[in-house]
Amino acid sequence: MTEHISDIRQRFLSRRQLLQGVAAASALATLAPAGLRAQSLSRPPGSIGPGFREIRHDLAEGHRLNEEYRARVLIRWGDGLGGEEPSGFPLDSREQAQRFGYNNDFIAYVPLQGSERGLLCVNHEYPVSQLMFPGNRTREEENAGLDEDRVLCEMAAVGHSVLEVRKTGADWTVVSDSPRRRRLTAATPIGFTGPAAGHARMRTSGDPEGRRVLGLLSCCAGGKTPWGTVLIAEENFGSHFTGDPQDIMDSHPKEYAGMDGFGVNRGYFGWARVDPRFDVTREPQEINRFGWVVELDPENPDSMPVKHTALGRFEHEGATMAYEPGRPIVVYSGDDYENQYLYRFVSSRPYLPDQDEHNRTLLSEGTLYCARFRDDGRGDWLPLRFGEGPLTRANGFDDQGDVVIDCRRAATLLGATPMDRPEDVETNPATGRIYVALTGNENKPGPNAANPKSVNPAGHVLEILPPGADGMRDHVSDSFDWDILFIAGDPGRDDALAGRYGGDVGDSGWLVNPDNLAFDVHGRLWVATDGANDFGFADGLWCMATTGGSRATPRHFFACPRGAELCGPEFTPDGRTLFVAVQHPADEDGSSYDRPSTRWPDFREDTPPRPAVMAITHRDGGFIGD
Ligand code: FEO
Ligand code: CA
Ligand code: CA
Ligand code: CA
Repeated sequence: MTEHISDIRQRFLSRRQLLQGVAAASALATLAPAGLRAQSLSRPPGSIGPGFREIRHDLAEGHRLNEEYRARVLIRWGDGLGGEEPSGFPLDSREQAQRFGYNNDFIAYVPLQGSERGLLCVNHEYPVSQLMFPGNRTREEENAGLDEDRVLCEMAAVGHSVLEVRKTGADWTVVSDSPRRRRLTAATPIGFTGPAAGHARMRTSGDPEGRRVLGLLSCCAGGKTPWGTVLIAEENFGSHFTGDPQDIMDSHPKEYAGMDGFGVNRGYFGWARVDPRFDVTREPQEINRFGWVVELDPENPDSMPVKHTALGRFEHEGATMAYEPGRPIVVYSGDDYENQYLYRFVSSRPYLPDQDEHNRTLLSEGTLYCARFRDDGRGDWLPLRFGEGPLTRANGFDDQGDVVIDCRRAATLLGATPMDRPEDVETNPATGRIYVALTGNENKPGPNAANPKSVNPAGHVLEILPPGADGMRDHVSDSFDWDILFIAGDPGRDDALAGRYGGDVGDSGWLVNPDNLAFDVHGRLWVATDGANDFGFADGLWCMATTGGSRATPRHFFACPRGAELCGPEFTPDGRTLFVAVQHPADEDGSSYDRPSTRWPDFREDTPPRPAVMAITHRDGGFIGD
């Protein structure tokens, strides 16, 4: 293993020097002191690094960040969408359906008035029953024993919330009477577009046409479009379904084969006891209606969201768009499962600014691609088109609907590169380079060049370079170069946990298990983590430059309360507010509603820990990250 890590380091450093070339050499010693904004702006795109003082690795009951910044809770699980506190806990299903859901994940800030007033669109990924309901049981015991109203409460706690927020002075508050407030849950009607809409495999007893499904599940990360809508990614949808897939092997062979790897029948949720559509033996095709990218118009609370099947069905971590006027739009999405793939969708028609009605059709028609990373630092996007290559009837694909429903199998046949769990993908607005968080993979058949560790407990971040110079990169091209931005882990080790960064990181600058990514207005990369508790410190947020001399040298900005991961990171357009979603505080072994490991954020004996969205500002009103 030691020898192998040395090889990785060698390759990582040599490619890095090659690609950075002269720009890197000239920028080598120019890490700007905080405050020198004018000077900083003249530097190469992506080369501005963090200016703040780093916080320490630690594991505590509260959140932490340095005293130059303020973090205020904006809304918590159970609050009304106008900010009202609940009368008490536990919530029942009727209350929950009206209130902010559990496990806030992706956040989109959609401006109504610049960086002062906007809609906050927030995903609610999944319920954690042993922290939502009293009983002091383990997750398995709690799920097995959920009564009907608790199941309904869980169904009402997932999905998405839209609320309006405004900045008054230095503080953000929730607008109490916004007409745009909206909850979407496991019961909200949602339409379909694309090749699987109305497909024979999308039809169920409740929806014989296969054109309308109830609910969106496992809403993880997402994205925003330039026409004001929000993209919501359905991730671990399979775990909501129970029933033995073997029972439908003969009657529904495609569904049987397709369920493998989606976590069906793990017993994680007890939903099928209350709603038979979650029992795969009773409604074998219901599962085909989840695992998509959903588009929501947050400004119109009466609009019906749609699932765009042209973007494929898999465990979508997120959906990040790249676009240029007059050209097709591009959406990147990772399939967050061990040894699964990275995808790109390219629309058939071009993006036309200010033509919203036209733009809202763009995600309905186009080509889906999977990524192949070659050993020589180049890569290709391979099209998933019915009738081409192996995607034929001989291999069980009867039309494009089959291809998008069984995306994983299609991408495997095409030779996509197995990845170490692709999480968030983001494009740096300063350079056009793409970043992919690979959160880790301890169950892999072997290494490959883009996922170079044999066992990868701490993850890494890949950089993809579409053709062209920084600022003018062509996201529609079918080829790319790639590099490893950094390998997460501890730089002081030389085993499977070894981390490799672009420069010397501080004692708390190293990180593990990158998950959510975001860029600020200066092109700095922010990496949120999910998994650090296993390494003895809190998950949180790290910031770094992506070009220049301080490339890939992270600094620790924010720490979650124990048991939590950090989701959402989302900046206002002015770069002076950062919204973060603290997900599943106190979710640790032995921790429960009655005896949680932290009661963050209220710290009241009668109140359980509550996932919450926070607004972070600089005490002087400056840029976040300076
Ligand atoms: Fe929902 Fe892959 O994080
Ligand atoms: Ca995630
Ligand atoms: Ca993101
Ligand atoms: Ca996660």
